[in-house]
Amino acid sequence: MENVFAPNLLAGKAALVTGGGSGIGAGIAMLFAHHGAKVALVGRTLEKLENVAKTIRDAGGEASTHACDVRDYPALEKAINDAATQAGRLDLLVNSAAGNFLAPAASLSANGFRSVVDIDLCGTFNACRAAFAHLAKQGGSIVSITATQADVPTPLQVHAGAAKAGIAKLTRDLALEWGRMGIRVNAVAPGPVEGTEGMSRLAPPDVESGLKKRVPLGRYGTIDEIAAAVLYLVSPAGAYVTGSTLLIDGGTSLIGPGPFLDMMGG
Ligand code: COA
Repeated sequence: MENVFAPNLLAGKAALVTGGGSGIGAGIAMLFAHHGAKVALVGRTLEKLENVAKTIRDAGGEASTHACDVRDYPALEKAINDAATQAGRLDLLVNSAAGNFLAPAASLSANGFRSVVDIDLCGTFNACRAAFAHLAKQGGSIVSITATQADVPTPLQVHAGAAKAGIAKLTRDLALEWGRMGIRVNAVAPGPVEGTEGMSRLAPPDVESGLKKRVPLGRYGTIDEIAAAVLYLVSPAGAYVTGSTLLIDGGTSLIGPGPFLDMMGG
């Protein structure tokens, strides 16, 4: 067995991260680069991607940027093909692009629901589909970012919960279909993570301290803690793991939808 605790766990690998311009996606990209992977960043806003790429390059890593929307299959397929051509290969895909907001189901528009499902679920399928041929060449690994809302019934989150539950199921189906081709497919389900756009949208600062007290571990998670879980899954340490969703939530899912009920005032 390879030494799973070696530095440069991803030396010689090439990775692509959607949603790589900020938050959890950016954190994953930086950790992958720190471990020796060439990293391609995909997201809608080139400036955000370039900022992350600069941080990676300043630290001695390699990064390329590919601005596109994961909902636009032809553009995403081109971005993935370009990234694989530039790096000479593609081994790792991380699906971190997501959209979310708080909205009661009774007033959420059909287009609002569809927008989140399009970004999260369809965007994840689009990236997996477009990356498949590259990953299948030498084997590879996919990790998608879901959320505890995928399993925990959660008010104001019907759109995100449905989309993330779809990603969890997609993960298991693809793991089954692609395992024999040497492609592992897993997911990570973060709970509340500090310093992300998601948390500023879902838990504004005025409700934050009350929410933190309800997390069994008593605090929000960090981007680095989510990135470390993704690194584990794509590294040799995770070589026998496929079709799994790893909860990294400080125990938040154990207490049900409580924090969101607080936000509804119920
Ligand atoms: N509450 C209710 N509905 C909302 C909403 C909110 N806070 N924000 C957007 N919507 C609805 C819009 O009203 C629109 O529906 P309509 O046409 O019936 O009015 C629909 O969602 C699409 O909105 P639009 O702004 O055109 O979509 P977009 O494709 O530009 O943006 C979103 C997608 C809505 C998911 C946007 O929040 C986004 O881009 N998020 C990315 C960043 C993010 O959410 N990060 C956190 C991830 S956890």
